[in-house]
Amino acid sequence: MENISISSITSVSDNLFKLLLDADPSKNIVQSYLKRAYKFIAIFKGAPVGIVLLIDTRPETIEIINIAVSKDYRNQGIGGKLLEYSIKWAKSKKYRVIEIGTGSTSFGQLYLYQKYGFRPVSIDRDFFVTHYPHRIIENKLVLKDMVRLQQYL
Ligand code: ACO
Ligand code: ACO
Repeated sequence: MENISISSITSVSDNLFKLLLDADPSKNIVQSYLKRAYKFIAIFKGAPVGIVLLIDTRPETIEIINIAVSKDYRNQGIGGKLLEYSIKWAKSKKYRVIEIGTGSTSFGQLYLYQKYGFRPVSIDRDFFVTHYPHRIIENKLVLKDMVRLQQYL
């Protein structure tokens, strides 16, 4: 996928909001960070095919709070491009640390984030039990814990 471009946006369409729910199934939680997030989309042939949201957390620290690629376009490098873009953007804005969190059962995501330089730093035990109303099953496992990863910029 060479002809992908990435641009900043200020609000999301209904379709993009739905895509954000692929990464984070709670509408309430997505709404809680959407407004204040830096938002970027990946565009292919004029249409958005991926999105990444970043938020300020602590001083000099930014978190990729949501990243998602449309189903038909996954495993073609677009998620990697969004991660690479986010890392470069954070560096250019003088952040010191970039973070990302994902489910302990999210094997593909854990692979991808480590491929792009993120390293595990801690576990938010029972994060998905505490903050999500419904049980989440992924890779035939009940998702309970969040793995937090970070890299220095
Ligand atoms: N085990 C190991 N590797 C895997 C697995 C797996 N189970 N599944 C996929 N992969 C690999 C692919 O082979 C590919 O490897 P490669 O880089 O060597 O080619 C890589 O993972 C995927 O890389 P990309 O194609 O760059 O990523 P993609 O465009 O598919 O986007 C994303 C990744 C965003 C996670 C996408 O799959 C998606 O939208 N998933 C649903 C939403 C989601 O889970 N979002 C992340 C939640 S966490 C958060 O938002 C902070
Ligand atoms: N992603 C997701 N699932 C996977 C992957 C993968 N990359 N690779 C295998 N699996 C699944 C299989 O599909 C199977 O799933 P299922 O239970 O739904 O059928 C499961 O993992 C493997 O289960 P078993 O067949 O019961 O385990 P196996 O007899 O293969 O033994 C072991 C596992 C011991 C890890 C074996 O693969 C092995 O000897 N590996 C090399 C040595 C090693 O890594 N040992 C562990 C090091 S850590 C330690 O020793 C404490």
